[in-house]
Amino acid sequence: MVKLIGKKINAAIFISGNGTNLNSIIKKSKNKKFPIKVSLVISNNKKAPGLLYAKKNNITFKTISSLNMNKFEKCSLKYLNDKKIKIICLAGFMKILSKKFIKEFKFKIINIHPSLLPKYKGTNTHSKVIKNKDKFTGSTVHYVTEKLDSGKIIIQKKIKINKNDTVQKLKKKILIVEHSLYPKAIIKVLKSNL
Ligand code: GRF
Repeated sequence: MVKLIGKKINAAIFISGNGTNLNSIIKKSKNKKFPIKVSLVISNNKKAPGLLYAKKNNITFKTISSLNMNKFEKCSLKYLNDKKIKIICLAGFMKILSKKFIKEFKFKIINIHPSLLPKYKGTNTHSKVIKNKDKFTGSTVHYVTEKLDSGKIIIQKKIKINKNDTVQKLKKKILIVEHSLYPKAIIKVLKSNL
């Protein structure tokens, strides 16, 4: 069990792209009551715009190629151990972690996905909900397993889809929801030790 009294636990955020969720977690973590410190950012894309948030906030960041996932995972584990990371938050990280990595890391790994899981695993969720004329969509934070977007659900937020919503509009709306949902999920995971 992770003890929260007085001390923040070290978190690593894995990204591949824009990192707006990373930014919202960094902002929240500046509050001394928020249970984590973002101690490491790992990106499999050296051009990820989100790396800028790590730079701006003086957070150690590493870019590791994921062309060979085995190498990516080995290298990540070394950095995770060095920084004594106790939770990994995947935030727009576009790769699937292996069962071996999940077992070796030993601590919690969570992910945010822009749909009401178990509906619409994988990519292009916004176009799928529009195509299927769904009335609602949303975002889900869940535990990571070796199966894509399939681990136990931690928290979910539902929003209504309007008739004139486009993929771009939904993407924007959902990101706004996610920026408060992910920090809530982190608190929930660490406080309740789910
Ligand atoms: C988010 O919508 C998240 O749910 C999905 O990828 C997007 C990442 O956005 N997994 P950002 O990189 O945090 O801006």
